[in-house]
Amino acid sequence: MLHQPVLLDEALALLRVKPGGVYVDGTFGLGGHGDAMLRRCAPDGRVVGFEWDGQAIGQARQGLSGERQRLTLVRRNFAEMGEALAELGLQNVDGILLDVGCSSMQLDQGGRGFSFQVDELLDMRMDQRRPTTAADILAGAEEVELADIFFHYGDEIQARRVAARIVAERRGQPITTTKQLARIVAEAIPRRFHPARIHVATRVFQALRIAVNDELKNLAAALQAGPALLAMGGRMGVISFHSLEDRLAKRTLSGDKLLKLLTPKPIVPGRDEIRRNPRARSARLRGAEKIA
Ligand SMILES: C[S@@+](CC[C@H](N)C(=O)[O-])C[C@H]1O[C@@H](n2cnc3c(N)ncnc32)[C@H](O)[C@@H]1O
Repeated sequence: MLHQPVLLDEALALLRVKPGGVYVDGTFGLGGHGDAMLRRCAPDGRVVGFEWDGQAIGQARQGLSGERQRLTLVRRNFAEMGEALAELGLQNVDGILLDVGCSSMQLDQGGRGFSFQVDELLDMRMDQRRPTTAADILAGAEEVELADIFFHYGDEIQARRVAARIVAERRGQPITTTKQLARIVAEAIPRRFHPARIHVATRVFQALRIAVNDELKNLAAALQAGPALLAMGGRMGVISFHSLEDRLAKRTLSGDKLLKLLTPKPIVPGRDEIRRNPRARSARLRGAEKIA
């Protein structure tokens, strides 16, 4: 499997997936979590999977085990799950899972522009129907907007230097490829500030990806919509990889009068999982139950 589902047992346990239940997988990807939910809710439970990446949906359809009639895949932003479930005639679901961010497939398969390991166009859209690419943002945003993106979404303390360099470079020629951006970042940040363990452009790439896909706004919308869609006793779980997302999940789930936060401390992967799948190391699972 290209995508190893992160915190799989923990997420299934948190949602208490049981036979006959109806579950929403808001981030279906290649179906790591969704397929496991589908098997656990057999013989008559249902899963509705949201996935906005057309390539991922295509691959998921090919790779899934049987029982497709109990699975509904919707190519739509999970922020719109309320409308989509209403259109399907579904209400009071038993669990909602969000495993946010992008998948290993998106990072590793060529042509998407998420990674500086290969030189390709700076796209970074998870949903290819969205209008704005990373290259568009680099071409059109003001210097202060760029600095804000890098600082807030990437924790990049050299954000201003990077933004100034981008603006200077783009006067000469447009910034359109991943390697070009990685070089600009490496040159903008003085050597003594280059991090030891990660590539110097990692934070800037992450920040741009979050901006291109409006990731925090979408997560906030789904966290707002979720509680009203759950049945009493139903549960919502969020797996995130970024402190901003984790904070947003904790704050929203604990501040909602309909919910009880189940995880004041996030559930994190054990050593074995991190050994098997190093990308899991920053994952955090938060969950809440509908109580009112
Ligand atoms: C971390 S992966 C999930 C992987 C999945 N749980 C699995 O085990 O295969 C996140 C997936 O959610 C999708 N995604 C992210 N934000 C989304 C959104 N707002 N609406 C719909 N899908 C989204 C991405 O395209 C990606 O495929």
